[in-house]
Amino acid sequence: MESVLVTGATGFIGSRLVEILKERNYNITTLVRPGKHTKIETSEVVGDLTDSNLEFGDKTFDCVFHLASHTPLEKNVKVLEKVNLEGTKNLFKAIQDKTKSMIYISGLGVYGNPGESTIDETHPYNPDTNFVKIRLDAQKFLEEECKEKGINFATVHFGDVYGAEGWFYEMLIKRLQKKSFRLPGGGKYFKGFVNVDDAVGSTIAVYENKGFGESYIVADSTPVTFKEFVNFTADQIGAKHPGNVPNFLAKAALGSDLIKLLTTSMKASNQKISKIYQFKFPSYKEGIPSVISELKSKNLL
Ligand SMILES: NC(=O)c1ccc[n+]([C@@H]2O[C@H](COP(=O)([O-])OP(=O)(O)OC[C@H]3O[C@@H](n4cnc5c(N)ncnc54)[C@H](OP(=O)(O)O)[C@@H]3O)[C@@H](O)[C@H]2O)c1
Repeated sequence: MESVLVTGATGFIGSRLVEILKERNYNITTLVRPGKHTKIETSEVVGDLTDSNLEFGDKTFDCVFHLASHTPLEKNVKVLEKVNLEGTKNLFKAIQDKTKSMIYISGLGVYGNPGESTIDETHPYNPDTNFVKIRLDAQKFLEEECKEKGINFATVHFGDVYGAEGWFYEMLIKRLQKKSFRLPGGGKYFKGFVNVDDAVGSTIAVYENKGFGESYIVADSTPVTFKEFVNFTADQIGAKHPGNVPNFLAKAALGSDLIKLLTTSMKASNQKISKIYQFKFPSYKEGIPSVISELKSKNLL
């Protein structure tokens, strides 16, 4: 049985990752903050990334999946640095002699603003928000340190991940129901969405196929404008199509990094990951109805 450590396992994507790893018979350790627990039983190590003395005792791992981070909703750059960069360094210090491999989760924001062209993994990184600069610094730190220590390393850049929790449920579905959702800047920018099952499935495929020394874009095969995606979701739940909000007002409410990341057009090719992983939901048109069914079965809709 392979042993893995998952950080961020109490979060939206991490909790799904843990469920699927369990189904695949992995022996799972999680890093959880005090008072938190994973949804399904795992071997929990209580700790916080900001602790420079993080410890995992005599545990050893075949792979560390590092998902824990603050989201771009956090506007304080010092907090972002402390958790997303210093926290990553603290984690590395604690696991450097305990793991054979590591997979770091990041987002497509690292590619900046590629305009209307479709990008792949050869596109240069061009971070243009504090949030993404810090995430890229953490990635580069891990790349270099893992190389030096002989630890296999890969980075997975997710598109916008939707599922029955996280931003899709909390910020979109609930607000569409309450008629309080607005499209920042009109929503005509393209996004690379990915259903959480495919985000998690691809990440496991990278590990199981030993796709190390590489980075992977994980978005579905159907780039779509945010407006089309939102209106399709509204139709699925019988809500009205939302109106718009100017970017400057959205930035005042949600922070400039988040709105810049959201309103930057991003069309990304999933050709590389598709060589080792077959998407369950190649398009939001199949993925959203599945999430809606899940929400209904949990009486959340
Ligand atoms: N959601 C998306 O659309 C998306 C897109 C691209 C990339 N990603 C990346 O995917 C990863 C997971 O995202 P998510 O949406 O699942 O995020 P999430 O729901 O906000 O979960 C974040 C996780 O990180 C943990 N965490 C935060 N600060 C920590 C700290 N100081 N010490 C230890 N753990 C800490 C949280 O623990 P608590 O439960 O204790 O708060 C939680 O388990 C992140 O790296 C994110 O940047 C997400």
